[in-house]
Amino acid sequence: MPNSQSEMELQSQQDFVDQVREIMAVRAAHQPPLAHVWTYGCQQNVADSQKIKGMLQEMGFDFTDSPDEADFILFNTCAVREHAEDRVFGNVGALKHVKTRRPSVIIALCGCMMQQPQVADRIRKSFPYVSMVFGTHVIHRFPELLFEALTGGKRVFELPDRQGEIVEGLPVMRESDFKAWLPIMYGCDNFCSYCIVPYVRGRERSRSSDAVVNEAKELVKAGYKDITLLGQNVNSYGKGLPEQVNFADLLERINQIPGDFRIRFMTSHPKDATHELIDTMSRCDKVARHLHLPFQSGNDQILKAMNRHYTRQQYLDLVSYVKEKIPDICLTSDIIVGFPGETYEQFLDTLDLVRQVEFSSLYTFIYSPRGGTPAAKLPDPVPHEEKAGWLNELLKVQEGIAAKRSAGMVGSTVRVLCEEMGKNGEMCGRTSGNIIVGFPGKSEMIGRFAQVHITSSLNWILKGELVELED
Ligand code: SAH
Ligand code: SF4
Ligand code: F3S
Repeated sequence: MPNSQSEMELQSQQDFVDQVREIMAVRAAHQPPLAHVWTYGCQQNVADSQKIKGMLQEMGFDFTDSPDEADFILFNTCAVREHAEDRVFGNVGALKHVKTRRPSVIIALCGCMMQQPQVADRIRKSFPYVSMVFGTHVIHRFPELLFEALTGGKRVFELPDRQGEIVEGLPVMRESDFKAWLPIMYGCDNFCSYCIVPYVRGRERSRSSDAVVNEAKELVKAGYKDITLLGQNVNSYGKGLPEQVNFADLLERINQIPGDFRIRFMTSHPKDATHELIDTMSRCDKVARHLHLPFQSGNDQILKAMNRHYTRQQYLDLVSYVKEKIPDICLTSDIIVGFPGETYEQFLDTLDLVRQVEFSSLYTFIYSPRGGTPAAKLPDPVPHEEKAGWLNELLKVQEGIAAKRSAGMVGSTVRVLCEEMGKNGEMCGRTSGNIIVGFPGKSEMIGRFAQVHITSSLNWILKGELVELED
């Protein structure tokens, strides 16, 4: 149920929704008007874009993959690494030609990058054809901001650095009809020393458990089979809510919803991953056998400098507990290579941890300095090429581990959710552990569970044959 504040907020936007629809019916080059929405970054951004698209739909828009034919172009941006930002600036630069050819197009930018004052300034000065810039805290006011951009005669910059209450009840346009992202909380309070997210996403705040459970129920009723609960640190879910609830309680409640579906979640911070959570996972049959547990570095000094609040040994102890309670668990992780001041010897501790744990896959990043974070002020003597060499070493080790793990699956039969057709008539799906499985199939199978016998493996991908399609 939307709370009353949400209802008031939504009502106040409804007028703008109607007015934008009328304006676009006259001004757009196409009918219905076309929007091009491009999303950078993590699933949190994907979930935000789905809300913006939901609002665009209410305002009468249809969607296009081509910026060249769009009446409205929006980039939802990510600030987590410099490379992500460079790509956005490059692609915004390319939109200049679109605006010159078709001056009526409205170009807008939103998302994490825009919450950084120096970025907003650069857009203001160097990209005059961008008409609308808004931050992560005002997504629910998108209809009003678009109305202003269309009628106000000047550029709209709406970038408050403080978040308000969570606004419930926004429409969501989901691309898939069997896989869904479900945000359970927003923001982050952890301030890992390298990370920009707490600055651009604000403080942690959780949705009420009823709001989350009701949305999950609706998804299950609509036939969704794979629901991923989202938050920068789902393990601190519930802090600050008037009700007494933690993440394990929430998992349990969602697990009780009748139906055949999988529950995933990300991300878990190791410092807050409790035994209670692991016990709950092992008990709940709908919770996927997959745990994304980023450790970032295997060296205690680096972990301390990163402000991660756990040691290598604590992480390893946690992993042992997980493996003991859930023997078929698939673990994945994020790693940063080349944190400022990291030595090759310290990096070897990361490599050693990777060998010990045997993750099913890894997301690996070379450290990227983010202005305004404490780590960006530290001396960083190791050249980028050297860090790239370390990263390659890490990737090689992981490739061997993944290949070994995959080979160990050959001969078994696994339950796969059929997701999409690959090349050569091959169906691609995922196991409960999130391992990709390819097997001969047909597009009618998409969105259904299948039993697949694994016949061979290729690095981290499994190949197999259909045993049975479930109904
Ligand atoms: N909240 C999640 C991660 C969000 S960002 C968590 O704590 O696990 C996703 C990943 O990007 C991080 O886990 C980290 O590995 C990486 N990352 C964040 N900031 C980075 C930076 N400045 N340079 C390189 N990688 C970074
Ligand atoms: Fe960034 Fe750390 Fe928060 Fe994750 S937990 S978003 S890495 S500050
Ligand atoms: Fe990027 Fe923002 Fe996500 S910085 S990683 S899109 S929270």
